[in-house]
Amino acid sequence: MKLYIYGAGYVGCVTAACLAKMGHTVTIVDLMLSKVDAVRSGRSPVLEPGLDELIAAGVAAGRIDAEMALPEGETGLRAADMAMVCIGTPSQPNGVIDARALKRVFESIARGVLTRPSPLTVVVRSTALAPVIRQIQTETQPREGADKLRLVMNPELLRETTAIADFFNPPLLVVGGDDPASLTHALSLYESIQAPRYKVSLETASIFKYSCNAFHALKIAFANEIDTLASLIGADGRQVMKLLTEDKILNISPVYLRPGFAFGGSCLPKDLRALEALAREHHEPLALLSSVLPSNRRRIEQAIETILANSGRRLGFIGLSFKIGSDDLRESAHVEVAERLLGKGFEIKIYDPDLDPHRLVGANMAHVMERLPHLARILVDTAEEACAQADAIVVCKRMMSNEEIRKFSAKGVPIFDLQQMNPSAGIK
Ligand SMILES: NC(=O)c1ccc[n+]([C@@H]2O[C@H](COP(=O)([O-])OP(=O)(O)OC[C@H]3O[C@@H](n4cnc5c(N)ncnc54)[C@H](O)[C@@H]3O)[C@@H](O)[C@H]2O)c1
Repeated sequence: MKLYIYGAGYVGCVTAACLAKMGHTVTIVDLMLSKVDAVRSGRSPVLEPGLDELIAAGVAAGRIDAEMALPEGETGLRAADMAMVCIGTPSQPNGVIDARALKRVFESIARGVLTRPSPLTVVVRSTALAPVIRQIQTETQPREGADKLRLVMNPELLRETTAIADFFNPPLLVVGGDDPASLTHALSLYESIQAPRYKVSLETASIFKYSCNAFHALKIAFANEIDTLASLIGADGRQVMKLLTEDKILNISPVYLRPGFAFGGSCLPKDLRALEALAREHHEPLALLSSVLPSNRRRIEQAIETILANSGRRLGFIGLSFKIGSDDLRESAHVEVAERLLGKGFEIKIYDPDLDPHRLVGANMAHVMERLPHLARILVDTAEEACAQADAIVVCKRMMSNEEIRKFSAKGVPIFDLQQMNPSAGIK
């Protein structure tokens, strides 16, 4: 393929050099003459192990060239198969990205594609959120070229210093956009690369990249806070984290990484509070871990807000204890939802075959007596009893399908599945 790559920085140069090695022909476009000259003379304008050699080989083979960016747009775009945008997206003081450079590139691409007979796939590798990119596209596309540009986001997962190896061995390839043919076209760039491929929306692709970086940052901050806590009791933080990462079942795995409802139960809130207390005792701020319970609480609030906004006063609950097969109600987030809604005057009937109020003992019993003293009165024996008169159903535990629930409830009654909650869309 013949490509135009905008930005001769880390991402642009690595992408260009690796694609050239795979047999594609690339023209790198930049505003800085020194970078353009470096590429033309077979050198990398950025320091990255192995990149000088790859660029030199690409230039010698006639597969890499560089050009200064032109305000009127690159005439070569007329015959290009694809354009890639690898422009920097630095932060402004308020955290919003400075998208001026991106906008300039889109302006010049919009001019460059005007004379094309067919639309151009524009692959954005810069890190930016989809609404920003969509707005730039709308603002820069002249009416006569309205259908000339097919937008694809293809987030870059490389790390500096191992960027070339990362490029050829990505954990996955993600492309996002509205036009299925352009997504296939963008993925065809990477034909010889072995990796799972995902086609998603422009929005998902864009925030996927941010979530990766947020997760990496979170992991580092977590390891450092655990190290701090370990040192407070004379433990070896490195050893603690080594042990933690040895558990590939619960810790280093997809477990607990699926969006759903708030956590609760007898251990997580209690143990987080104990770590916070340890830090407090030593006057050591614990910014990350002490933000976890408030973050969890917000999830409960979101559920309550959604139910309040979308339901009549009678609710049927399917399940109450924290998971199927358990009667543990201690610090159950479900109990909190029920308690809060009862407090707001809702009538609730709960069906949970795991619960027998007469068998609850000890701390479990004490918790119920404190939070839901009328549990025995609102617990019913069948799902039908819980659902029959309800204005809405709240599914705390997925013990039955929506179809089964619908058999017992009035037509059109909304079902709020707490595990499927999506704050912006309400609970589905
Ligand atoms: N550096 C990384 O490891 C990495 C990894 C993944 C994603 N990203 C993302 O990729 C993007 C690029 O990052 P980078 O580190 O390569 O940036 P960079 O600053 O190294 O390179 C950006 C290049 O764009 C050029 N440029 C600016 N305006 C231009 C214009 N109008 N026309 C042509 N060229 C122009 C600049 O001169 C510069 O050479 C950013 O959004 C970044 O967040 C970076």
